[in-house]
Amino acid sequence: MNLLSARDLSRKQIEEIFLVADSLEHQKYFQLNGRKVLGLLFEKASTRTRVSFEAAMAQLGGSSVYIDKSTSQLSRGESIADTARVLSLYLDFVAARLYRQEDLEEFAKHSKVPVINALTDVEHPTQALADVYTIRKVFGKVSGLRIAFVGDIKNNTCNSLMAVATRMGAGMALVGPKGYSPDAGFIKDARKHGKVDISNDMRKGLAGADVIYTDTFVSMGMEKQAEKRRRLFRRYIVDDRALSYAKRNCKVMHCLPAHRGEEIAANVIDGGRSIVWQQALNKLVIEKAILIYLSRNS
Ligand code: CP
Ligand code: NVA
Repeated sequence: MNLLSARDLSRKQIEEIFLVADSLEHQKYFQLNGRKVLGLLFEKASTRTRVSFEAAMAQLGGSSVYIDKSTSQLSRGESIADTARVLSLYLDFVAARLYRQEDLEEFAKHSKVPVINALTDVEHPTQALADVYTIRKVFGKVSGLRIAFVGDIKNNTCNSLMAVATRMGAGMALVGPKGYSPDAGFIKDARKHGKVDISNDMRKGLAGADVIYTDTFVSMGMEKQAEKRRRLFRRYIVDDRALSYAKRNCKVMHCLPAHRGEEIAANVIDGGRSIVWQQALNKLVIEKAILIYLSRNS
């Protein structure tokens, strides 16, 4: 079994992964059978995902190998298919952070071991699982909550969050600039599972929100459009005004890295409503749960 897209997961599978994560609270150093090795094939920068996956494997009694795409033979033209065939001979799982979702799928097609999407331009499913797991911990439930994603409402983080959150019974509100439409395929999928409102009005979109979620306005690979995007999304900063539109006890989330003063005000991310550090910690917990789940189901 692979984890390439949040859309491939059913509610039952998400619940099973969450139950494994819950069980780790009492078994931090639960061991995977055998000394398993995880490959981390990365084409983009990472702090959290790389380090938490490495820590996860160490805590599970295995180990990990970091493969920087730019210093692998992929950078000299070796095909993704041959790379996947060979890495499968050495490794027990691969977590890959690539630009193109198609490249990840091509890798998985030729891999003999489970492949995990560690972020592409289109999706960030391990992040979404950690985020919805965090919401479940903080609120004691997911079903019936309203989660507002503000800013770049068609980025990887938003797409995967929408898929996982709606499968778990939450409603989504996407709040972003007029004329900037979210991905139609992800909207259609999410609406099969729950309500998704789309608005360019902060007051309207954030009304009744239990969670306000934001992410960078300039995702990796979009650096050339940085200035244009900062202007486009400027009005969608999560600040005190944004909080005033949501529920009084709403929580603020961000997958990090954060840009204080751009997508989120410093006093909000560093304030009492913010659960971003708990969210970051839960990446480690949920990645361990994913590795255990995949090794049991592959
Ligand atoms: N949230 C997240 O994926 O962070 P990194 O880019 O540091 O891995
Ligand atoms: N949307 C961001 C997420 C970083 C974890 C990016 O792709 O850069």
